Amino acid sequence: MVSNTIQFIFENKIYKIKNPDPNKTILDYVRDDLKKTGTKEGCAEGGCGACTIVLGELNKNKIIYKAINACISFLPTLNGKHLILVEDLIEEDNKLHPVQEAMVKFHGSQCGFCTPGFAMSLFSMYKNYSKISNEVVEEALSGNLCRCTGYRPIIDAAKSLNNKKDQDKFKKNQNKTINLLKKINNVDVEINNRGKIYFAPKTIVNLKKILKKYPNAKILSGGTDLSLEVTKLRKQLKTIISLNSIEKLNFIKKSKSTIEIGAITSLFDFQNFIKKYFLDFYNILKRYGSLQIRNVGTIAGNIATASPIGDTLPILLTLDAKVIVQGINKKKIFPLNDFFISYRKTKLKKGEFIYSIKIPINKENIFKAYKISKRFDDDISSVCGSFSFLIKKNKITKAAISYGGMSEIPKRASIIEKKLINSDFSENTFNKAVNLINKDFSPIDDMRASRNYRLSVAKNLLLKAFHEINNKKIIRIN
Ligand SMILES: Cc1cc2nc3c(=O)[nH]c(=O)nc-3n(C[C@H](O)[C@H](O)[C@H](O)COP(=O)(O)OP(=O)(O)OC[C@H]3O[C@@H](n4cnc5c(N)ncnc54)[C@H](O)[C@@H]3O)c2cc1C
Ligand code: FES
Ligand code: FES
Repeated sequence: MVSNTIQFIFENKIYKIKNPDPNKTILDYVRDDLKKTGTKEGCAEGGCGACTIVLGELNKNKIIYKAINACISFLPTLNGKHLILVEDLIEEDNKLHPVQEAMVKFHGSQCGFCTPGFAMSLFSMYKNYSKISNEVVEEALSGNLCRCTGYRPIIDAAKSLNNKKDQDKFKKNQNKTINLLKKINNVDVEINNRGKIYFAPKTIVNLKKILKKYPNAKILSGGTDLSLEVTKLRKQLKTIISLNSIEKLNFIKKSKSTIEIGAITSLFDFQNFIKKYFLDFYNILKRYGSLQIRNVGTIAGNIATASPIGDTLPILLTLDAKVIVQGINKKKIFPLNDFFISYRKTKLKKGEFIYSIKIPINKENIFKAYKISKRFDDDISSVCGSFSFLIKKNKITKAAISYGGMSEIPKRASIIEKKLINSDFSENTFNKAVNLINKDFSPIDDMRASRNYRLSVAKNLLLKAFHEINNKKIIRIN
């Protein structure tokens, strides 16, 4: 069955919209159509958090509350979700919600423009955690900017919620909401709004049929890149195929030697899984955009974008990851190292999509990765370096070194790798090897960093990896 109507829960009711505009953002819908103007527009590109809303999603009979940026989410992606806005937080007896009370008590608001976004980030934190550590607070607030209050009072408000028993109205209405979410039409969505078409198939079979008919369609995963074509570049996307209803693409599988990540697995889910295997992959993901971005963004989207500064890309290159591409008839497997052709171009052909990513687990290798950006949180890399070594009897038997931000595509430093392999694992070896950096890369000057800065940083990151491994000590400034 196919429906041209999206359905979601709002204010304890099922809302239905027939053929919504697939290019309209949830933010515009909320402010212009629902007339709920508590949610603000700051940057319109996912960077400030003023537009933060929360979506409730059913997961094994439990509701997961995800903070997202409404300014870069397309309206049809509301299908099947519980929409929660800042106006909804007020309790039934007109009391403030505990997160709002905390903001008042700790003086967390001045001009108030950022406050609804902060309240919603705090709300999702309050719903998802009872133990609220510093780390949980930092992560929850990483995507919200405040230009006048300063962060300390807001952080104090967040910390005061530690161990607070969740007794809000959402908890009381939980069973009712779950039942409503289950009632929503669980079918393929196909929208046609004055020639703008949007598909959200539920199966890979149906996805392939649509791709066959519309090979030029834009594939939508988290939308944290794609949506900016509409909000920033002012383009209209004529045909969109969302992968987000295909549950079969939402997985993380581990075998003895590999980890496989399905195309729509969120960066947030992946970050928590990968910590145990590659700690620095986790450390970089924690600084990837913000929680709002990681709640929806995907590795597949990062790979397909092929940005020279995509943060997962140098790491995946170093780890010898493979991309599993599904065509209409067959699957293809590409080593990531062969997947990027030129600036933002990959070997993906029309009608194909990334099905999954496979990462080998080499427990013997020592892995390090570092992200250098102007701001610690919610910023794009100037340079990202990723390193893996196999050292036997003080000899380097394997070396994999990759950088982002150093060329038009994320790339392995093959000349340095060659120099290191079969050499002693010593300061002298590394001091000599880093001087080859300008043989591997010729970076550009841009507003993020100059060529010379990038070259120096890339050298120093490799030396840092050496010193950390040599001294068995982590050298980080957090
Ligand atoms: C505020 C902000 C902060 C950001 N911070 C970072 C950061 O710190 N580091 C970083 O690397 N990036 C960052 N990004 C960029 C973006 O979040 C990432 O590139 C993200 O991984 C994209 O994934 P997505 O699922 O949102 O992709 P989408 O936006 O859905 O898609 C991106 C592109 O990939 C294609 N695509 C998506 N999925 C597939 C698939 N399965 N098969 C084939 N094609 C596909 C789409 O058609 C589109 O062309 C940031 C973006 C924003 C807005
Ligand atoms: S308006 Fe700034 S993140 Fe959405
Ligand atoms: S209170 Fe003014 S921007 Fe935060």
